Amino acid sequence: MRKSVKVFAPATVANVVCGFDVLGFAVNEPGDEVIMRLTDKPGVSLLKITGDEGRLPLNPDKNTVSAIAKQYLEHIGRPDAGIEIELHKKMPIGSGLGSSSASTVAGLFAINTLFDNQLTNRELVPFAMKGEELACGYGHADNVAPALLGGFVLIRSYSPLDIISLPFPQDLHAAIVYPEVDVPTKDARQMIRSKVYLKDAVTQWGNVAGLVSGLFMNDYDLIGRSMTDILVEPTRSILIPDFEILRALAMESGAIGFGISGSGPSVFALTKDAETANRITQKLQHHLKNIAINSLAFVSEVNKKGPVILD
Ligand code: HSE
Repeated sequence: MRKSVKVFAPATVANVVCGFDVLGFAVNEPGDEVIMRLTDKPGVSLLKITGDEGRLPLNPDKNTVSAIAKQYLEHIGRPDAGIEIELHKKMPIGSGLGSSSASTVAGLFAINTLFDNQLTNRELVPFAMKGEELACGYGHADNVAPALLGGFVLIRSYSPLDIISLPFPQDLHAAIVYPEVDVPTKDARQMIRSKVYLKDAVTQWGNVAGLVSGLFMNDYDLIGRSMTDILVEPTRSILIPDFEILRALAMESGAIGFGISGSGPSVFALTKDAETANRITQKLQHHLKNIAINSLAFVSEVNKKGPVILD
């Protein structure tokens, strides 16, 4: 039995434009790392957090990694176990890239590894959703499910939970740009309408079905023309500097489709290759620099593995 483990869990692009709370995919970078050790002293302690600029709670009941590790231990009947945790944030907080999800998933995968993989990654999803509830007030699964399972994921239903791993074109790449303005998911959720018109719902579910069909059919054009969101993007894009200009730059540089990653402010484009994705991130970062906004960029294939043991 292992006494310690170091785990990486990936960032994720949730919603994928039209699929608010029901679609997401994992990327190879960025992501978070958790080191977890078994100790003789009962209880879960959070020893340190790095890379968060002091923004995350060190209280083990408030931090998602330790709070959810506790719930896992209770579930497997080992509430007496002793655990020490280090969380190393390797990605920006409040970026729309599933930051809390990457931490929680790394922690859950670590503790499950230390306790002989008693649960499958799929069975860990409801625990990770509780982490999202703690972090942003609502237990959505479109970050944590792809972070745990890798790949492209559809949350067909929340009650009961029904998670479908989707196929995707193997050459599909994501170009992600994070403009360094803070948009907490909690706030970005509160600003959207809770009621929609039936005609708008028709447009939206047509696009969701179109996107899923495009993934099955390796049809890039269908994927692209389905990446339209008339329900959430019009409101949330207000928080993203020059959103429409960024979209135009991405599309004229060869993007298949473009939109907000999760609750933003990160934006992403899907492309058919890494070269186009790199060209897009350069163009977008250049524009953001011109309007005095710092940014980070990531180019990645769709991550197929989910969390991995580093050590
Ligand atoms: N589906 C969630 C939202 C993802 O859009 O609020 C948050 O990253």
